[in-house]
Amino acid sequence: MTEPDGKPFLYVVVCAAGIAAGVDELITAAQERGWAVGVFATPTAVNGFFDTAAVETRTGLPIRSAWRRPGDPRPFPDPDAVVVAPATFNTVNKWAAGIADTLALGTLCELTGRSVPIAVLPCVSDALAAHPAYQDSLIRLRGMGVRFGEPYEGGGTGEFGWERALDLLEAT
Ligand SMILES: Cc1cc2nc3c(=O)[nH]c(=O)nc-3n(C[C@H](O)[C@H](O)[C@H](O)COP(=O)(O)O)c2cc1C
Repeated sequence: MTEPDGKPFLYVVVCAAGIAAGVDELITAAQERGWAVGVFATPTAVNGFFDTAAVETRTGLPIRSAWRRPGDPRPFPDPDAVVVAPATFNTVNKWAAGIADTLALGTLCELTGRSVPIAVLPCVSDALAAHPAYQDSLIRLRGMGVRFGEPYEGGGTGEFGWERALDLLEAT
């Protein structure tokens, strides 16, 4: 759903990987490309993995981490696109398995398979990525149209290549 100010709305889903400290770079880049941004974070991610106050100032919206109460309005409009960055081993596997025990996962499970483009930048060590469950999860999610960035080789947050997520969304 396009925002009243005419901008398309992007959900950015942040998981609890150390690299999440740099997510402001993604949000700024998305805004520069014309997106309005609303951030979802897993309950672990919101607990010290990034500067939540800075992100809320940047987006002008509260970060969504917990389910709203019945009867409360939905704080964000429907998305035009979704980015999951960084995506953890835990969240990728639970998402593929259809587990919805965090708001971030419930939102992803609901949106997968709709016409909304979803781009994912995993931050998963080689050791964990070799687990067969993770490989199965990638196959399953790709089969549902989810677009994955290349595995992250490590390095500082500036080297994560946050804009890869936006490029993946724009790829036809
Ligand atoms: C400092 C720190 C850095 C972490 N970095 C990663 C990471 O890069 N990738 C990953 O898959 N898990 C990482 N973890 C483990 C996740 O935080 C853990 O699996 C957690 O359950 C993920 O929750 P979430 O998927 O709900 O965000 C890290 C944990 C800590 C404490």
